[in-house]
Amino acid sequence: MTPAEQSVRTRAICAMAPVVPVLVIDELVHAGPLATALVAGGLPVLEVTLRTPCALDAIHIMAEVPGGVVGAGTLLTPADVRAAKAAGATFGVSPGATDRLLDACAEHDLPLLAGAATASEIMALLERGYTAMKFFPAEQSGGAAFLKSIGSPIPQAGFCPTGGISLKNARDYLSLPNILCVGGSWVAPKDAMARGDWAAVTALAAEARSLR
Ligand code: 3PG
Repeated sequence: MTPAEQSVRTRAICAMAPVVPVLVIDELVHAGPLATALVAGGLPVLEVTLRTPCALDAIHIMAEVPGGVVGAGTLLTPADVRAAKAAGATFGVSPGATDRLLDACAEHDLPLLAGAATASEIMALLERGYTAMKFFPAEQSGGAAFLKSIGSPIPQAGFCPTGGISLKNARDYLSLPNILCVGGSWVAPKDAMARGDWAAVTALAAEARSLR
């Protein structure tokens, strides 16, 4: 899959909802009910970070939840790409981009939201054919003000910013023309997950869904 084809796919995925939950799953038993709760609240696109031992198994389970579109986050290496694909991820997300990572996504047909946080990084991804990118860590890298500014000289790059985004500031990003969607962990709080309070997760998802 060429980078341009990947970007068509990731743009379509980002267009499905204003917010992509960024999920850190510690307990495999949470995977199914968490995905069901988020989809029920109107957030079908889910990013499972490969930061916990059960993350790949969680992707496998969540990919079976009707209506869900499950991706793997924190892809750092070609091995991560292969593992994500084998687990059933339909897209990948990375905080940055390396040639080896981009080559692996092309080889294994995994649409990637590669990360960029400077003008040169954005230009390097555009040069390779990517027009949809992650912007991370969003708040620490200049936030909505940076993305508004970069949209003037480089309007062809579209972003999914993540890192430090919540209900309080999500609209600052979503009101910009170069924002595809935002990502954030606030819709799946650790305490609600630990309690198994899936109704609370659905309520947070519905609130996030109404942002756009
Ligand atoms: C991450 O990679 O942890 C995401 O960007 C989520 O960040 P957040 O917890 O600040 O929403």
